[in-house]
Amino acid sequence: MELIIKPVRSLNGEMKVPGDKSISHRALIIGGVAEGETTVDNFLPGEDCLATLSCLKALGINIESSAPDRVRITGKGLCGLSEPTEVLDAKNSGTTMRLLLGILAGQPFFSVITGDASLRKRPMGRVSGPLRDMGAAVMGRQDGNLAPLAVKGGGLKPIAYESPVSSAQVKSAVLLAGLYAPGRTSVSEPALSRDHTERMLQDFGANVTRDGLTVTLSGRPVLNGRNIHVPGDISSAAFLIVAACIVDDATVKINKVGLNPTRTGILETLQQMGADIEITRCGSSGGEPFGDITARSSDLRGVEISGELIPRLIDEIPVLAVAAACANGTTVIRDAEELRFKESNRLKAMAEQLNRLGVKLEERTDGLIIKGGRRLSGAKVDSLGDHRVAMALVVAGLVAQGETCVTGTDAISVSFPGFMTVLSGLKTNK
Ligand code: S3P
Repeated sequence: MELIIKPVRSLNGEMKVPGDKSISHRALIIGGVAEGETTVDNFLPGEDCLATLSCLKALGINIESSAPDRVRITGKGLCGLSEPTEVLDAKNSGTTMRLLLGILAGQPFFSVITGDASLRKRPMGRVSGPLRDMGAAVMGRQDGNLAPLAVKGGGLKPIAYESPVSSAQVKSAVLLAGLYAPGRTSVSEPALSRDHTERMLQDFGANVTRDGLTVTLSGRPVLNGRNIHVPGDISSAAFLIVAACIVDDATVKINKVGLNPTRTGILETLQQMGADIEITRCGSSGGEPFGDITARSSDLRGVEISGELIPRLIDEIPVLAVAAACANGTTVIRDAEELRFKESNRLKAMAEQLNRLGVKLEERTDGLIIKGGRRLSGAKVDSLGDHRVAMALVVAGLVAQGETCVTGTDAISVSFPGFMTVLSGLKTNK
């Protein structure tokens, strides 16, 4: 599907964004292996989370929805899953594949998991490696690096894993496998990645401790079903926040957004760029803080984005690149090579597509150098099938001169169904 985006005069309003994608996946998975019932409200009914839901059903878990954003999971306990008769399909979702691999590693049965063409190219060796160290058999192309992957698990032993990458998916896969190993499983990472798995496992009753960059879980816990309220997804809110910052006449308030400190790098960075952003903390649910965010038209300036900040805003870099293009001065993004292994090669994708919109930038192995301050000019751009690239380009189109045609926008439903409707409700066209 293609969308024509015209420049807007103003962007004003107050709304909520759909539930957090990372937390929605984890609620399904952890709820499925807990004892008793787990209810989830403000669940994200995006394609990625629905892929996790279908895989869990195929593993014998009963999940009912009374509304698209409300699910009830009847947990079967750690050992209640059954051997699937079909190949599990993670579709476009890296989180589904990597987190479920952790669970499958703990099962004494055989399973196969695959995904769409994009996911079948993404590295899974980072997960199959430690899961093999724990004792699971994982087979796949390139010696277990590429899906489809076949798993025969069970009989796991705990490990102390030092991850070479800051990846919440790797950390979560090892911790979820660690549920099945007697004793203490730990994961260390070079910089702290999102910690939703740790927080939720603790909320369900597991013993989880953190010492700096190392998290440790005691295996074979009894997990008890919970009622989970999923906060709004800060990664989805980011598109509206950046849009408000770069449009001339804008005030946008987004209510009940997740403010977990491992995810708020986007807010700190935009504030450092001079953005007018107000954050009101409201409370927390299941160990996850949330609050309201108001963003207004701002004069942005270029900054450097690197180091430990990168994992705290990894999914927001495509839209930050748009903010940087509209900022005065140069923005340097470094230490972000991981972006090449997402739903698309996001460094290459953003460099090429922003270039079509007239942005002066350089692609580096681990980042981008963006020379901001020039008016964007409308052109035909493509999402490359990547939801976050699609939404970042739509946001760019709001301030580009003339018309911007964004192709491949179907991908948006992966994480933010209703994005275009929300945006239309906020904008007044020129
Ligand atoms: C996610 C972790 C991140 C992030 C992805 C969601 C998660 O990936 O980019 O969108 O829910 O654990 P990595 O673990 O590959 O960094």
